[in-house]
Formats: sequence, structure tokens, C-alpha cells
Amino acid sequence: MSLIFNPFTQKNVTLNNRIVLSPMCMYSADDDGKVTDWHIVHYGTRAAGKVGLLILEATAVESRGRISAKDLGLWNDEQMAGLKQIVSFAHSQGVKAGIQLAHAGRKAEVDERIIAPSAIPFSEGGPVPAEMGPKEISEVIQAFADSARRAKEIGFDVVEIHAAHGYLLHEFLSPLSNKRTDEYGGDLEGRSRLLKEVIKAVQAEWGQERPLYVRISAVDYHPDGLQIEDSIALARLLKEWGVDLIDVSSGGLIPNPPSRIFPGYQVAFAEAIKKQVGIATGAVGLITTTEQAEEILGNERADLVFLARELLRDPYWVLHAAQKLGINDLAPNQYSRAF
Ligand SMILES: Cc1cc2nc3c(=O)[nH]c(=O)nc-3n(C[C@H](O)[C@H](O)[C@H](O)COP(=O)(O)O)c2cc1C
Repeated sequence: MSLIFNPFTQKNVTLNNRIVLSPMCMYSADDDGKVTDWHIVHYGTRAAGKVGLLILEATAVESRGRISAKDLGLWNDEQMAGLKQIVSFAHSQGVKAGIQLAHAGRKAEVDERIIAPSAIPFSEGGPVPAEMGPKEISEVIQAFADSARRAKEIGFDVVEIHAAHGYLLHEFLSPLSNKRTDEYGGDLEGRSRLLKEVIKAVQAEWGQERPLYVRISAVDYHPDGLQIEDSIALARLLKEWGVDLIDVSSGGLIPNPPSRIFPGYQVAFAEAIKKQVGIATGAVGLITTTEQAEEILGNERADLVFLARELLRDPYWVLHAAQKLGINDLAPNQYSRAF
């Protein structure tokens, strides 16, 4: 019995299989953050390829929170129509659709005021962000909530809050980038306060019918940064706050961390969180084969397997996996003569 094709239900949402298109910026939006033909074709192809869930790329909740001027955005109603088209096609293929809501913080490369927990640049000599005051903190919380309301109206099945890779929410979580002395800094409780307030505000709009995921960077690869023990403690809080699944990545807070990259290099973090905290996790990072995916699921190291670059190379990875595992009726009718 294949574990990849074992459905996964949380709340009112059932994924037909355990393979997730990991969020990946396409840097192909209009300057106003709207979907272009590229997104329609790119996401549509992965939907025809029958992933269980596709999670759309980091989508900015504020224009100053974009990683680049070519990011998708969901800070106004005009940005909804193109996203609706992607979701509607995914649903026609029996595929669920999620969106990653994001704020780039000090890593924003746009021509606007750049904000962060503390006035510390990402890289030496890089642009110095402004330390956020109370007004900017409440604007960001509101922006996440407004985007979640739009995501719900569009018909997304999952919202993922991006709290990884050195972007704004991760900047608050890490003691390397958060030197605040107010209630948003200090110990884990303080450093996770903004994330908690964002989660609560998102839940108020998103509701309880559909799952909420959070992506974290489990470690900062720096002796004074986040360690796996910190992320396990954070995961306990996320569980308490009602998060349904933690998508466990790593790094991104500092430039050029010491590299430790090998197949499945982040799976142990997802496993530690799942086993020690008892919350569903997603594993990601250099997972490329059906054998790897089956191993991760079979040994209960994670509940979902996120693939990123492998699904750029092969949008039909799931159809090929099905063929290998003797499941022959998965391809869209239009392609049945090929599979
Ligand atoms: C082109 C590209 C864009 C990415 N954009 C995002 C993003 O928007 N949000 C995010 O959380 N991770 C992003 N990532 C990271 C991937 O989701 C994934 O975690 C990483 O590539 C490791 O998985 P892989 O080895 O399967 O590629 C991006 C990766 C790539 C290659």
C-alpha cells in the first residue's frame, strides 16, 4: 500500500495524496502584484500533474513586504481575480490550493520604507531597515488578516503563514535579528508575540473550517541563532494557538550559512517537531524520489512531503510515482493515452 497516495484530512479539507508543491516565487507578477499568464500555466500544469496540494508562492500582504517588485500580492481586491482562476482550475483537477502569505521585512528589495524588528541589515553594508513602531506592527497584523479574508473569499483550501527564511516574522523570532526591549522582543514569548498576533488575526478571518499552516526555519545555522530546541518550544506554542501543520524548513536569516546540504537535509527537523510536540508536519528540502517520500511517510517522520525544484523539473512527478506504484487511473483524461 503506497503511503504517498494515502489521503490526508484536516478539518474540512482532504488532500488526495501527500505530495505538496512547495511555495516558490516565480518573480513573474505584474508590478501591481497581479497574476500573469505565467502563473496560470505554471500552477495549472502542476494541478494537471495531480499534486495533493499546491501552495502558491510567497504572496505579499503589503506592497512594502514584497521580496521583489515581481512578487504576487494580496493587499487589494484587484489582485483576487487571477488567483481565483488558478484555484478554480486546481479544483477542477481534484487538487487543493493553498497560498503562502508573506512579508519580506528587511529582505524586501522594493523602493519603499523597509521595516524590521530592529535596525539591523540582512548583510553587512546592506540597506538598514527601520525599527517597527506600534503603528507599523498593527498595520502588518491587519494586512495579514485582510489577505486571509481575501484568500478565503477566493476559495483557497489552505493558508500558510511564512515565518521562515529570514523574512519579517522569522526576523522577530530570531534573537540574531530581534534586539527589541519592548514586549515584542526578549525571550521566546516576546519574540513570538507578533507571530501569535498574526495567527490570531488570520484565524478570525480564515475561520476554523480549513487548515492553517505555518512555515518555520527550524535552525539559523548560527551559534547565537535559533536551534532545534527553540523551534520545538515554538512548535508547542503553535499547537496551542491552533495551527494545523508546521512546514519545517531552515536557514535564510543570515547570508552564506555554513552549508550542510544533502538529500532530505531538513527531514530530521520535521521529525523532531512531529514526535516531540505531536503536531502534523511537512518535510521539505532535497526530496526527489518516490522512495524518499515513502520512507518519510512510512517512518512517520512527517505527514506531508513538500517538493520544490523537483516539481519544476518534472511537473508530472506524482503521475510518474503513481505509474511506478501501479496506480494507473490518475492522469487527466486528456492524457490517458500517455500514462
Ligand atoms: C525558485 C524558488 C523560489 C522559492 N520561493 C519560495 C517561497 O516563495 N516561499 C518559501 O517558503 N520558499 C521558497 N523557496 C524554497 C522552497 O519552497 C523549498 O523549501 C526549497 O527549494 C527546498 O526544497 P527543494 O530541495 O525540493 O527545492 C523557493 C525555492 C526556489 C527554488
